[in-house]
Amino acid sequence: MGGVAGPELAGAVAAAGALGMLCEFDLEPSTERMTQALSVAGDGAVGMGFFGHWLHDDLATFEEAATRLRLVEVFWTAPDAAIVDRARRSGGALMAWQVGTVDAAVAAADAGCDVVIVQGVEAGGHVRGTTPRDQLLDAVLAKVSLPVVVAGGIGTAQQVATVIAAGAAGARVGTRFVATTESRGHPVYLQALVDAQSGDDTVLTEAFSGGWPDAPHRVLRSALDAAENFDGEVVGHVMRARGREAMARFDVSTPSRQVEGEIAAMAMYAGTGVGEIRDVRSAADVVRELVSALG
Ligand SMILES: Cc1cc2nc3c(=O)[nH]c(=O)nc-3n(C[C@H](O)[C@H](O)[C@H](O)COP(=O)(O)O)c2cc1C
Repeated sequence: MGGVAGPELAGAVAAAGALGMLCEFDLEPSTERMTQALSVAGDGAVGMGFFGHWLHDDLATFEEAATRLRLVEVFWTAPDAAIVDRARRSGGALMAWQVGTVDAAVAAADAGCDVVIVQGVEAGGHVRGTTPRDQLLDAVLAKVSLPVVVAGGIGTAQQVATVIAAGAAGARVGTRFVATTESRGHPVYLQALVDAQSGDDTVLTEAFSGGWPDAPHRVLRSALDAAENFDGEVVGHVMRARGREAMARFDVSTPSRQVEGEIAAMAMYAGTGVGEIRDVRSAADVVRELVSALG
């Protein structure tokens, strides 16, 4: 999760026994973040996610991740055998593709992936498909023999147990981990997640398009309302290594602790499981809770 899942969070999730995911983009150089996440993770599994449309600008990072980490994953673009091959030639990481349709899941299998992650429309962040999670899972399981991890709106131990019983090899959880002590999310964002009551407090929109147009995403409804009602075009500032930069209204960036300004009017990404978040806890506590209904 860009802007949220730094090495502290990915490492803590991994140390707790789940797969902790880094994002290709963050404040510090990727090499440094891999090293730090691996040191927090101990024997745990760390992966890194890439966006297909930006991947070709940074193939060196992809290859390094395939060498050093347990899994590399690509999102958004169509599964591509050449990318899978590149990962295989670089190192021993498992290759995953996150998709939002049955056809794309079949294409991921055909491209030679080890794992496919199917994302239902309930998901927080950028949303690739339009099909509800459980329906997509069933349809994909009928078509592919790869391990299928399912994502979108999962926030309880019961939901994790249900998708595993339905045949998923794993559950991908994003939003619940934004509200953790290791998250890089801005405290105002974390509190807004805690305050949200249900999936009705989220909305699928294309509004936060600055930097990444034509890409549907799910955010807190309050964030969209606040951005629409915000008076002005600069909603805040982000501290980058190269200095303090203005952040335009409807910018795609996640409100991290590196951001200041009108946080409530920024892209506070959230999936429909947000109503299950009652507090900010350690990532290890969240992992423990989420697996607690498994046998
Ligand atoms: C704040 C946030 C940032 C995200 N950033 C990314 C990202 O950088 N790359 C990616 O592949 N998916 C990203 N996602 C989507 C997740 O991979 C996943 O599909 C989603 O979180 C699952 O739904 P959930 O949030 O309801 O658990 C992000 C999700 C959130 C909530």
